[in-house]
Amino acid sequence: MSTIQQAGTPVSAAATAPSFVQHSKLIAWVQQMVDILQPDAIHWCDGSKEEYDRLCDQLVTAGVFKRLNPVKRPDSFLALSDPSDVARVEDRTFICCEKKEDAGPTNNWKAPAEMRAETLPLFTGAMRGRTMYVVPFSMGPLGSPIAHIGIELSDSAYVAVNMRLMTRMGKDVYGVLGESGHFVPCVHTVGAPLAAGEKDKTSWPCNQTKYIIQYPETQEIWSYGSGYGGNALLGKKCFALRIASNMGREQGWLAEHMLILGVTNPKGRKYHVAAAFPSACGKTNFSMLVPPAGFDGWKVTTVGDDIAWIKPGPDGELRAINPEAGYFGVAPGTNMQTNPNCMLSLNKDTIFTNVALTDDGDVWWEGMEQDGGGLPAHLIDWQGKDWTPQIAKETGAKAAHPNSRFTIHASNNPAIDANANDPAGVPIDAFIFGGRRSNTVPLITEARTWTEGVYMAATMGSETTAAIAGAQGVVRRDPFAMIAFCGYNMSDYFQHWLNMGEKLATADLKQPKIYNSNWFRKGENGKFIWPGYGENMRVLKWIIDRLEGEAAGVDTPFGVTPSYADLNWDGLDFGADKFEQVTSFDTDLWTAELKLHQALFDTLSYHLPKELVDVKAKIEARLAA
Ligand code: GTP
Ligand code: SPV
Ligand code: MN
Repeated sequence: MSTIQQAGTPVSAAATAPSFVQHSKLIAWVQQMVDILQPDAIHWCDGSKEEYDRLCDQLVTAGVFKRLNPVKRPDSFLALSDPSDVARVEDRTFICCEKKEDAGPTNNWKAPAEMRAETLPLFTGAMRGRTMYVVPFSMGPLGSPIAHIGIELSDSAYVAVNMRLMTRMGKDVYGVLGESGHFVPCVHTVGAPLAAGEKDKTSWPCNQTKYIIQYPETQEIWSYGSGYGGNALLGKKCFALRIASNMGREQGWLAEHMLILGVTNPKGRKYHVAAAFPSACGKTNFSMLVPPAGFDGWKVTTVGDDIAWIKPGPDGELRAINPEAGYFGVAPGTNMQTNPNCMLSLNKDTIFTNVALTDDGDVWWEGMEQDGGGLPAHLIDWQGKDWTPQIAKETGAKAAHPNSRFTIHASNNPAIDANANDPAGVPIDAFIFGGRRSNTVPLITEARTWTEGVYMAATMGSETTAAIAGAQGVVRRDPFAMIAFCGYNMSDYFQHWLNMGEKLATADLKQPKIYNSNWFRKGENGKFIWPGYGENMRVLKWIIDRLEGEAAGVDTPFGVTPSYADLNWDGLDFGADKFEQVTSFDTDLWTAELKLHQALFDTLSYHLPKELVDVKAKIEARLAA
């Protein structure tokens, strides 16, 4: 590490750059950014454990982190954010390319020059009184031909330590870059400069004004005003999805909001499934699934829990890598019943954000009461206030914020896939697209063709969750679970998916089968009907059996669905009546649903692939029949 405090003297990138940085353009860029942001000091991160420990200690001293009970939760910390800075801000996220049509109607757009002029005054001096961390990171295994490198400049030490868990971060990145290698420049500031001698009045400085800006044509990311995950850890949604989707479009690959899992059946055959569920709709959980009793010989392993880069392999077949190195997952709802692998992953070396603190220095969130302890008598909630079951009853106060998160390195996961770090990726056999819908959409349907699958993904609806700032539980279209992450025109993105399928067909390669799932139908009592979590194995088994040509299904207007007898019910009391409730196909609801598909298509009429309009006509004809 080298942090050079230069009281009174101008901060110099060249003078502070450690010997492992030999890239003159990079140093010049850092200097340019120093001139704009005007930090008090530069810290060039080397990514070492010592550095991580030192920064964590520093965060503890500053009151940003609380060190958790070292016996119960070794080397783990709790951060509580500003109550206003708890989720991604989609209305403040911008795709700034030259032409508005290239961003498309689903993205906020501004011309690059206009956005630069608008935000330069904000970025100017934004790091005054703070240290600028220079965070080198690789998305994908270091040095692999499929990896891409970014350098994030951030005035948040919280970001620096999170990036060490979430990406391959450290000085080896400079070894790969050498003297002139390509990197994506990422600028992040919490937007809270300090006057000379001024100290932070809060442990989570941020700004009410926020900008999450992507310039896809110059591959730049500029983030202002937030310290929260997807707004601040720029390798994640900004780079690995919004910028990378643009790279993929040009270079013939896919950057997707998908988990990747390996599933081995009792015959010992291993399949790989990638699944796109919207934010806080079950990716982490599904990727760590533990098969229930009655599934002897089945094994599920995690390749990734949030993002997949899917590229044609040497023979043209689709292979997927997880560009991330860690998980930034939703805490509430996680317990030994719903996700034991995840609970075990959180035993050590974890950064928690916005969960509750127990009186013995451990963490707690809603859902943990199911692990036998009941509700704790007293907690400090995510806003630092006293919490008791009585207070919760009276005020409805949540102990943990519904979008509270944990950050862990993937190596913490006992179910990590043996090929999780293989630069060659894993071959994809099936895609699942699944929204959160209280009604209408059945538990599982299989698309009859690639095009029908693309239609299912494109028209997917989902109820919004706490992962997004703003109204919750509102059904919106979330095509491919990419509404907030596709960095270019959504219709062109649909076309790109159709082209990928076409390429596979032309090369005589098997197209992965495409499925549409919904774990979230509710009964009249307002409760989820399907037990979900590990029980989703019943659906996953049907999918794998279908791939093996061994499972039946029945045709519906909207794909092929299993009948009750087609799933394995060993060890679960879930009758045919309940199954009917999660799989029924209601013509009235679907007639209304198709109107929403049409509304989406109206919005996306520019460049909308005709094939999708044709699929819709077929569904309508089947519905009418
Ligand atoms: P992001 O990290 O925001 O992209 O979310 P994710 O898709 O990884 O979601 P995650 O697996 O963290 O789940 C989010 C919430 O949904 C948690 O509260 C889970 O408990 C809940 N959940 C996950 N799987 C299921 C399921 O099968 N059934 C039900 N009812 N809830 C689930
Ligand atoms: C999501 O919102 O989809 C997440 C969390 O995975 S964040 O990193 O904030 O994007
Ligand atoms: Mn996500």
